[in-house]
Amino acid sequence: MPNLTPSDFLAAAMRRNQRLVEIRRTLHSNPELAFEEYETSALAQSVLGELGIETLTGIAKTGVVGVLRGGAATDGSRCVALRGDMDALPIHEETGLPFASRNPGKMHACGHDSHTTMALGAAMILSEIRDQLPGTVKFLLQPSEEKLPGGASVMIADGALANPPVDAIFGQHVAPMAPAGAVGFFPGNMMASADELYITIRGRGGHAAMPQLSVDPIITACELVTSLQKIVSRNVDPFQPAVLTIAKIEGGSATNIIPDEVKIEGTLRAMNEEWRRSAHTMIENSVKGVCLTNGTEYDLEIRLGYPALNNDPWATAFAQESARQMLGQQAVFDAPPMMGAEDFAYYLEKVPGTFWWIGAGTREQGCMGGLHNPKFTIHESILPIGSALMAWVAYRYLVEGKN
Ligand code: NI
Repeated sequence: MPNLTPSDFLAAAMRRNQRLVEIRRTLHSNPELAFEEYETSALAQSVLGELGIETLTGIAKTGVVGVLRGGAATDGSRCVALRGDMDALPIHEETGLPFASRNPGKMHACGHDSHTTMALGAAMILSEIRDQLPGTVKFLLQPSEEKLPGGASVMIADGALANPPVDAIFGQHVAPMAPAGAVGFFPGNMMASADELYITIRGRGGHAAMPQLSVDPIITACELVTSLQKIVSRNVDPFQPAVLTIAKIEGGSATNIIPDEVKIEGTLRAMNEEWRRSAHTMIENSVKGVCLTNGTEYDLEIRLGYPALNNDPWATAFAQESARQMLGQQAVFDAPPMMGAEDFAYYLEKVPGTFWWIGAGTREQGCMGGLHNPKFTIHESILPIGSALMAWVAYRYLVEGKN
């Protein structure tokens, strides 16, 4: 059993509260987009550096890896990774906060400022007890969670999970509208894969009153949108979640003109990798078939996005139990799975681990707006809680984790 208690970790985090708020506000007021997180990265490096944690930079362009070798580590002792994502979104902030974005058109509307802060907070707590750590902790501050190909995949390609090899990984994401500091877990597939669909249908434009002289891409597009809906409604096990949404359709200019082409865009979400691949073939067949019938030509691009996020059941139970120990049963909830996507899934393809939700605060707690909303805010009381929880999970894993 660990010598240190979860209360020690909470107390250590509370002592750093002011610093955590300072870091979060600095990041919040200076949001940087995917793969451009230069100042965020510099701040992460300097915090880790001050703590005496060895840092590797230039990983995935702006990513930072901190390596904290414990004083009680032995040959073959475990290595656990904690992840914080750093990028902001192309949204114009409307919170009116005194520390709102100073970069027009850019905003931390997905809480990644707090994720980075909490990962650094965990580093502060764990570096304080480094002599007692029976293993290694890696801090992965990654770029570009929001934009393909996903910073996580590039971090992995650049060796973030190697040297020493990571045995387990943990990450967290703020959950809007959930009570501040409540923590939600789900074992298994918690989030979906997300692929982007880009289709251009090319016909031959002409006068709308003489359709026999044209090849109409609009009627083809209408038929195709309907046809694509059959992929999910008729070809997937009703007990298996999948979504195909056509979210954009663009073509035409006036009531009396048949246009040359129509563009269609959408997203395919799935929880099952095998079905996901077969859906790609069905999409291609559907596009090919409908266009052939209508005499149109097409371009189809299926841009591969993140895989489904699969939380390891053991690691999830372990983190959930850690949260209960630290915050009490009333603060822990079972999170429902959802069809959003998250590039943390890439790490979980390589090593076991889990990704949990931390409540960002309810409306009553002053938190308005959902994720990716210009009014999105978090309750800052979660900063020490999320820091302490990450640190406690990592410490407990090194002390008593699975062999
Ligand atoms: Ni996010």
